[in-house]
Amino acid sequence: MSATRIRVATRTPYEVVIGRGVLAELDSELSQSSPAAVLSDTNVVRLHAARLGRSTSLPRLAVAPGEDSKGFATLERVLDFLLASNLDRRSTLVLFGGGVVGDLGGLAAALFMRGIACVQCPTTLLAQVDSSVGGKTAVNLRAGKNLAGAFHQPRLVLADTDTLATLPDEELRSGLGEVVKSALLGDAQLFALLERESAAVLARDAEILAEVVTRCVRVKAAIVARDEDERGERKLLNLGHTFAHGIEQAAGFGVIPHGVAVAVGLTLALEASERLGLLEERALRPRLAALLAALGLPGDLTALRARYTVRLASDELAQGMRHDKKGRAGRPTFVLVRGLGKVDFDVELAEQELLVVLG
Ligand SMILES: NC(=O)c1ccc[n+]([C@@H]2O[C@H](COP(=O)([O-])OP(=O)(O)OC[C@H]3O[C@@H](n4cnc5c(N)ncnc54)[C@H](O)[C@@H]3O)[C@@H](O)[C@H]2O)c1
Repeated sequence: MSATRIRVATRTPYEVVIGRGVLAELDSELSQSSPAAVLSDTNVVRLHAARLGRSTSLPRLAVAPGEDSKGFATLERVLDFLLASNLDRRSTLVLFGGGVVGDLGGLAAALFMRGIACVQCPTTLLAQVDSSVGGKTAVNLRAGKNLAGAFHQPRLVLADTDTLATLPDEELRSGLGEVVKSALLGDAQLFALLERESAAVLARDAEILAEVVTRCVRVKAAIVARDEDERGERKLLNLGHTFAHGIEQAAGFGVIPHGVAVAVGLTLALEASERLGLLEERALRPRLAALLAALGLPGDLTALRARYTVRLASDELAQGMRHDKKGRAGRPTFVLVRGLGKVDFDVELAEQELLVVLG
C-alpha cells in the first residue's frame, strides 16, 4: 500500500503523509536542517523509538504519558531541553507521540527563539486524524483545557499507521470519537464506511485505518485551508467539543479520554439540535447511536457516568462549558447539526435548554 500525500494549503503550505512505514521519510526531511531534537513520551519511546531511524540518535526528551504533561511546568522543561540541546532558530523539533506531545511540543516550537520548525509524527489515531494537522498548539490551565496556546503550523506531518498497532483499545476508541465527528461534519461516505466496516476498524485492518485517517485529514485540511485562524468556518471542527470540554473539566482532566468525551458531545449536540428544531435529518440520531455502539463508544451521559464512575452533574457540566474559549463572554456557543454534512456554528443555547440536554 503506497502512502497518501495531502497538501494543507495554509499560508505556509505543508504535506500530511499517511500510510504504513512513512516515518522512514523523517531522516531525509531532517538531513538539511541544523541541530534537531525529538520530543516524545515514555510509552511511545518504549514501543516505537526504533522507527525514528537515524533520528534515534538525536537529543530526546520523553515526558510522562498523559494529560498532566500538558502544562506550564513541562513546557518549561521542554524549552530548557531545547536550549541544552543547542538548538538554534533554524532547528527542527520532531514531535513523536499523541496529541499531548503534539500540542505541548508544538507550543514549545512556537515559543523557542520566537519560533522554530516542527515535524508532527502522530502515533495515536486521535493525533493522526485531528491534532497533528491545523497548527493548534496549547497547554492547559487549571481553569480549563488548552487555554494558553498559539497557532503554529508544522512543516510536515508523517502519520505512520503502523504505530497504531500498539495503541490501547481505549485510545483507539478515543480516536474514533474524532473520526465520527469528521464524518458527521463533512464526509457522508466516511460515515457509511464506518457503519459498514466497524468490525474491521476495531480489528485495526491496516487498509481501512489508512482510509479512515486519509478521509479525516481531507475534511480537516480543507476547512483549515479556508479559515486558518478560526474566524468562522473552522469553528465547525468543534462539533461536540463544547460539551466534551465541560465533561472533561467536570470529571477532572485525563479521567475520560478526549475523543470519548467528544463522542458523547456529538450525541448531546444532536439532542440540542433537535430540541431547537434545527435537526432536519431525524434518522441521524438513531444512526449515530448505532454507530457509536458498534464502535464501542458510550452513546450518552448515562453510559459515560457508568463506564468511568463519575458524577457529572448537569450544573457541573454547564460550569465547565462557561470557560470554553470558543464561547463569548462566559456564554458557551455550540456547533449544531441540521443533517449529515450540514452543520451550523456559533449557536447559543438558553441555560434552561442546556440543563435539560445535560440532565
Ligand atoms: N491541536 C489540536 O487541534 C487538537 C485536536 C484534538 C485533540 N487535541 C488534544 O490532544 C490530546 C489528546 O491526544 P491523544 O488522545 O493522542 O492523547 P495522548 O497523547 O495522551 O496519548 C494517549 C496515550 O496513548 C499512548 N500512546 C501514544 N501513541 C501510542 C502508540 N502508538 N502505542 C501505544 N500507546 C501510545 C500515550 O503514551 C498515552 O498514554 C488532548 O490534550 C487534546 O486536547 C488537540
